[in-house]
Amino acid sequence: MPSEILSVELGERTYPILIGHEGFPALGKALAERTRFERILVVSDGRVNKLYSEPVVASLTDAGFLVESLVIPEGETFKTLDTCMSIYTFLLANNFSRESVVVALGGGVVGDIAGFAAATYMRGVPYVQVPTTLLAMVDSSVGGKTGVNHPLGKNMIGAFHQPLLVFINITALDSLPPVEFRAGFAEVIKYGVIRDPALFEFCETQNESLFALDAVALQHVVKTSCAIKAAVVSADERESGLRAILNFGHTVGHVIETLTNYALFKHGEAVAIGMVAAGRIAQKMGRFPADQQQRLEALIERSGLPVRIPKRLETEDMLERMRKDKKVSRGQLRFVLPDAIGRVSVVSDVPPMVLRDVLDSLRQ
Ligand SMILES: NC(=O)c1ccc[n+]([C@@H]2O[C@H](COP(=O)([O-])OP(=O)(O)OC[C@H]3O[C@@H](n4cnc5c(N)ncnc54)[C@H](O)[C@@H]3O)[C@@H](O)[C@H]2O)c1
Ligand SMILES: [Zn+2]
Repeated sequence: MPSEILSVELGERTYPILIGHEGFPALGKALAERTRFERILVVSDGRVNKLYSEPVVASLTDAGFLVESLVIPEGETFKTLDTCMSIYTFLLANNFSRESVVVALGGGVVGDIAGFAAATYMRGVPYVQVPTTLLAMVDSSVGGKTGVNHPLGKNMIGAFHQPLLVFINITALDSLPPVEFRAGFAEVIKYGVIRDPALFEFCETQNESLFALDAVALQHVVKTSCAIKAAVVSADERESGLRAILNFGHTVGHVIETLTNYALFKHGEAVAIGMVAAGRIAQKMGRFPADQQQRLEALIERSGLPVRIPKRLETEDMLERMRKDKKVSRGQLRFVLPDAIGRVSVVSDVPPMVLRDVLDSLRQ
């Protein structure tokens, strides 16, 4: 059995997160304890399929499941209803009933699409998250948000659907490209800032071991990050309040992503810049000490993540974009700002001058 078990407490939809670094052999048995259904569809993308489908299918088959696999095209551009349709078609053509389980094996893209297909196929079948990127391990696989993109907006079509089980095999990170690792690490830093000074400090002191993919160190940060996400999700499943703190770094990050057409930065890289911006805003407002802001910027930079806004993004365009986002959410422009490393507040009265100065100061 994997060495650590967390629980996402959601009443009758409570589910475990199993975390270990012993590969996939324990997956089948863990799932068999959670369902009496026999048929399983494993969904993965081309790259993950080549790397990990075999041991995953073997583990499930050994545990007595009848397993089929479907490979979807790799990457965010394929996170569409078309791809989802291909999953429905496979399920229908192969007579998968309501008593089937979908296993999402891969990064956040596979998790979101396969989860959405499971949420909607025959009004909902159970699914399992087997995340293989750092981002998926610490963020997208926990919380039950599933969905696809629409040409007019990212993640605009979706459903809340909690998994039966999240199975995290840390050693899958060994094959992850460094840029993907760094992008996921930005979310780990985020968890440290919003909730856990010890996690933040661990990222500082163990930075080298983490980037050398030391399994024990990684397991610690993945477990701690998942525990934070799980606690926040349990307290606020449908994002009406507390869950907003998970958006630390995401307000400015999101603007940077949109204005660069999602082409220049990975999501986590844009969030890294957004965290620097949020920290500077808080510092300028006198609510976050300068030495802590320095620590934040130093950790982000040391982790190979960007800390500056590309010069070609004009401050005015960014502000305009934020005003539009605000209109869409029919509310105030809210920022999640650090009070200290380990604690944040949601703030809606950031003075426009402060925001403008900070964005200007970060353009290089
Ligand atoms: N549902 C949520 O709550 C939530 C939260 C955050 C992000 N997301 C979504 O997650 C998606 C991003 O996820 P992602 O960053 O994991 O992207 P991804 O799924 O596209 O994976 C990134 C790349 O890594 C490859 N890969 C995956 N695992 C690998 C491994 N172990 N070894 C080698 N290569 C591997 C994939 O094939 C892909 O090319 C976005 O669509 C985003 O909207 C969802
Ligand atoms: Zn994010």
